[in-house]
This record gives sequence, C-alpha cells and structure tokens, in this order.
Amino acid sequence: MNKLSERLAREHRRHHGVDPAFIAYAPGRVEILGNHTDYNEGFVLSAAIDSGIAYGLTASGSGECRLYSADFERSVACPAAEPGRSDSERWSNYSRGVLAFLTQRHGFSPDGFLGTQIGDIPIGAGLSSSAALEIACGLAVAAFHGVQPTPLDLARIGQKAEHEYAGVKCGLLDQISSLFGRADSLVFTDFRSLDVRTVGLPPGTAFLIANTAVKHTLVDSEYNERRQRCEQAAAYFARVLGDRIKALRDVSWNDLEAHRGSLDPAIWRRAAHPVGENERVLKGVALLEAGDAAGFGRLMFESHQSSMIYFENSCPELDTLVETARTTPGVWGARLSGGGFGGSIVALIETDKAAAIGRTLAGAYEKAHGHAIEPFLVRPSDGARLIRPV
Ligand code: GLA
Repeated sequence: MNKLSERLAREHRRHHGVDPAFIAYAPGRVEILGNHTDYNEGFVLSAAIDSGIAYGLTASGSGECRLYSADFERSVACPAAEPGRSDSERWSNYSRGVLAFLTQRHGFSPDGFLGTQIGDIPIGAGLSSSAALEIACGLAVAAFHGVQPTPLDLARIGQKAEHEYAGVKCGLLDQISSLFGRADSLVFTDFRSLDVRTVGLPPGTAFLIANTAVKHTLVDSEYNERRQRCEQAAAYFARVLGDRIKALRDVSWNDLEAHRGSLDPAIWRRAAHPVGENERVLKGVALLEAGDAAGFGRLMFESHQSSMIYFENSCPELDTLVETARTTPGVWGARLSGGGFGGSIVALIETDKAAAIGRTLAGAYEKAHGHAIEPFLVRPSDGARLIRPV
C-alpha cells in the first residue's frame, strides 16, 4: 500500500467504523505537449504523476451509499440505484456520476457502500484531481460489484461524469494518462485510434510544476467554447477539402495557410493551435527518442506561444512563469499544462538545477503578482490500480 492508501484506510475506519474492503488508487496527470488536441482526435504526450486520489469502500448492507471526503471533511448519502447529483456537496458528484454510468454501461444493479476519498494532488493546479477521483472510484466500485471494465471503458465513464455532472466537455486525456502512466516515462496517445505507448526521457532531466493557484472565472465555459470553435473549423475544412477531414487532426498547417483568408479569423486562430500542437507532438516524440532535451524544450516554448497568440487560453500569471523560465539556466522548455486560464506551468529542466530554478520562478512570480508560490518536481509514475484486494 502506498502512503496515501494507508491514510485512506485510517480515515475510512475513523469515519465509517470499518476497514475498507476495497481500495483503489489513481494518479493525477501532467500534460507535457499537445494542448487541446485530444478532442480533435490528435496527439498528446503526458505523464501520470506521483500524487493522486485513493478511494476506499465497504458494503453498507443496504441500498444506500454514504460518501465521505476526508479532505473536505464532508459526508453525504444517496441511493446506490439513483445517486443523482448534489449542488451543495459537489465533491460527491464525480462518484455519483461514475457509479451511475458504470451501472448503466455494465447493466448490474448496484449495492450500497460506505465510500471514502482522499487525495494529495494540489487542488486547482490543473493536475486533474477530478479525473484521478473518477478512475479511483471506478476501479473500487467495479471491483466491489465484480465487474471488469476495460481501461478505455473506465476512461469513458470518467469522461461522461465530467461532461454530465461537472459540465466540462473534456476529451479523454486526463483519464487515459491516469490509467496508462508508466514510471519514469511519458505516455504518447493517439486520440483517434486510442493507441497508447510510452516514450523515455532524456537522462538528467525532470519536470518542475509551478502552480499559479489562479483559476480565472468562466474556465469551464471558455473550455467548451474553444472546443466548439475547433469543431466549427473542422466542419469548414470538411466542406472545402472533402471527406478526408474527420477532425482537426486531418488538417495540416499548409491547409490552414491556404484558407487563412476564407475562414472566419477568430475560428482560424482557434484551429491553428491544435493543428500546430499535433505537428509539435510528433516532432517532440522523435526528439525525445533522440535524447534531445533542448530541441524538445523549444517545442514546449512554442506551444505556450501558440496558446497565447492563437488559443488565448493563457493568462498573465502563466506568462510570467514561462517568460521567466525562458531565461533561467537549466530550463529546457516550459508551457502551460492542461486546459489553461490559470493552473500550472510545466518545465523540462536539468534535474540538478531544480532548487535554483524553483527559487527564480518563485521570486519573479512574487514580484509580478504579489504572492508566494512553491514550485515542485513531479515524477512520471505508474497508472491507476486496485490496491485491495491484491
Ligand atoms: C483539460 C481536459 C483535457 C484536455 C486538456 C487540454 O485537462 O480535461 O481533456 O482537453 O484540458 O489539452
């Protein structure tokens, strides 16, 4: 059992008075390259990180679920067969959604349980604590009912919970990264075929996260708006270029250039981001395989630039960190990670310079935005798993 699962077991016993019969763990994720490409059927390099969510449960002996969040110290009850949704205990909506969709998809009638969730992912950092929760809960609830969803099944169930219970029309990146992570490797995913493979890291490098702790308002509606623009652009290209265009994944930079004048400029700019990102991810995989940290880092900076100019999903706080990283010795590259509009940047750095780089970023951030941050290293880690029973 990892440390978090041990804490989970203690909290579960303290709150529910029994040992958890099932425990699952799922990590958060960091998006390394490939921003807003997942729902455009494109490519992403990501990693599961060394912090996550643990979920424990025991049969309640009735049709009722009693859910407990050890982090928020809140609890709530709902019927297993109709978990519904809660406006006051929103943390519980991910479990409710996962339970409802798992039941629906696998056609079993659910039993009630005593559930506990606990996490060590910084909240609001853009490291996908919600996807980790969905996956950990899905694994534990499936094991409890003796059903065996495939990893992709679980990923889709988590995504559906996000769409219908949290209102964010996300792709599958967060759930797939949490499930398929591998220690000391990146996960390279093709979001059309859903083929996943791992890619190694250049020796002596590490990933540093700097969390702005900023969450600009309307993030969810901005996200959904970006997705809609991308779909409008894909529909335009399908009209003018024919059937070979199924998604923005099929549009090249040359196609974009050729249609700069005829597509609405606002939609054009949105499309330019994932199209450029897809090309960067493919180049990036080759550079990593050649051990070229400098070349890969340049692509990370380009990615951030593209977010700023085309997708407008950055913000001044993220820009300060990336601009500082650009001139800090030992940083190969940096960019915003995840949806954007706040959250974190990720930097590829020389491992032995981590402490000095962290201080430089924190100093520049405090000077520009008046509050302290504490950058930290994340280690690419193994994906989600059932911990009990083994
Ligand atoms: C969020 C979403 C993902 C993905 C990223 C941007 O993390 O949940 O599906 O779209 O933003 O790449």
